[in-house]
Amino acid sequence: MNIRSLKFLDNKFKQYLFLLGIVFFVNNIDSAEGGPCKDYGDCDEFKYSLNDMASLQRGASTFLNYCYGCHSLQYSRWGRVATDLQIPEEIFFENLVFDKTIKPGDLMIGSMSKEKSAEWFGVAPPDLTLISRVRGDDWIYSYLRAYYEDSSKQYGVNNLVYPGTAMPNVLAALQGAQKLVCKDVPVIAKNGGEKRDDYGNTITKQKCGYLEVDEGSGELNKEQFDKLIYDLTNFLVYVGEPAKATRERMGWYVIFYFLIFTALSALLYREYHKDYYK
Ligand code: HEC
Repeated sequence: MNIRSLKFLDNKFKQYLFLLGIVFFVNNIDSAEGGPCKDYGDCDEFKYSLNDMASLQRGASTFLNYCYGCHSLQYSRWGRVATDLQIPEEIFFENLVFDKTIKPGDLMIGSMSKEKSAEWFGVAPPDLTLISRVRGDDWIYSYLRAYYEDSSKQYGVNNLVYPGTAMPNVLAALQGAQKLVCKDVPVIAKNGGEKRDDYGNTITKQKCGYLEVDEGSGELNKEQFDKLIYDLTNFLVYVGEPAKATRERMGWYVIFYFLIFTALSALLYREYHKDYYK
């Protein structure tokens, strides 16, 4: 479509279309290069479910047990998390808050000093309150499942999504020993089918870089571990915007209201219009 051929549009609008075109083009350049999940390829898709309280509660529990030692959630308050996740305050403080001097109104500022941890890990573990907004939930969900053993690294592990990450694989005991393996995969012909030799056998070639967990080496199987990371990521999405579930629920009511309102004003318009043609 040629923009000049749209004669009926005024110039302002054409300029606007042109700018929109540029924005679209620039966005496309950005997404074509590398991709945020690096060596992992495309990030795995993540669909949050912020009304699933059981999932959020399990995620909070995993976070406080395995992550809070290093990472703070400094823009959230303990009491708000307990209320939003519908955990009774006594149960929450009894089971998930390990420092007994903490009060519900306190911020979740973490327990590790930034200077000490920067010394230990090379970089201080970042605050994770807004991490789902910065990196995106797909990224986090992929990152936490993409650790593999690599003896050349300081902690003996590396990560496909974040190569050279300074964070140790803190969930290794649950996941088990994940390694990069090579596999024989079928060669794909031009027509999209598998290539076969003259005897009808599938032709394969070796491809490397697949993640595989040594069977039985972790406390959880793959499905359970993925579920654990799902809940954990879901919790981080909640923490990134506690009002998100409410906002999305309200959105439907607002659209519903607009529909009714439009219908009513259309009727009213018709009623007024009758007077013109009397
Ligand atoms: C032993 C300390 C430690 C623990 C425990 C820990 N982390 Fe980390 N984490 C780090 C450090 C250090 C970094 C910085 C890595 C880097 O930038 O190279 C990091 C980085 C991250 C990042 C990437 C942030 C970014 O954008 O760069 C995420 C996400 C994350 N951690 C999530 C978690 C989760 C979820 C848990 C709990 C399962 C956890 N971490 C437990 C030390 C820790």
